[in-house]
Amino acid sequence: MRIGIGNDHTAVELKDIIAEHLKDSGFEVVDFGAKAGERCDYPVPGKAVAEAIAAGELDRGVLICGTGIGISLAANKVPGIRAAVCSEPYSAKMAALHNNAQIIAFGARVVGSEMAKMIVDTFLGTEFEGGRHQNRLDIISEIEEKYSR
Ligand code: RB5
Repeated sequence: MRIGIGNDHTAVELKDIIAEHLKDSGFEVVDFGAKAGERCDYPVPGKAVAEAIAAGELDRGVLICGTGIGISLAANKVPGIRAAVCSEPYSAKMAALHNNAQIIAFGARVVGSEMAKMIVDTFLGTEFEGGRHQNRLDIISEIEEKYSR
């Protein structure tokens, strides 16, 4: 599985920890984020990871800024993308199971590195349940289509 990771300047250290963790777990990791010493506006890596997923170049994404909010807002502007901000594993599981999110986001100023690893592991280890949940995602897609005309 190919994972895109993106971050702003608040999250370089946590991004490095999570990228290493993912590589150790056997994932291919593509880094779109700020490196040490760089400043970065969170919409830039949010857009880059989301567009790569929408284009089918990546399977899933991990986005990290100070809170996870701004970077997920940017990702969610890319048609078809569902990015979920999660600060604990239960929400991360449901984001995959019920919402079929392709991207998990969290805040480097909110969660510690061990919690972040659990969030990512849970998200990537959970498959979409489909069924009635697909109907709800179809309604979200209809909203998106209505306002993108
Ligand atoms: C940067 O200071 C901060 O605003 C950003 O990392 C993020 O938390 C925005 O949502």
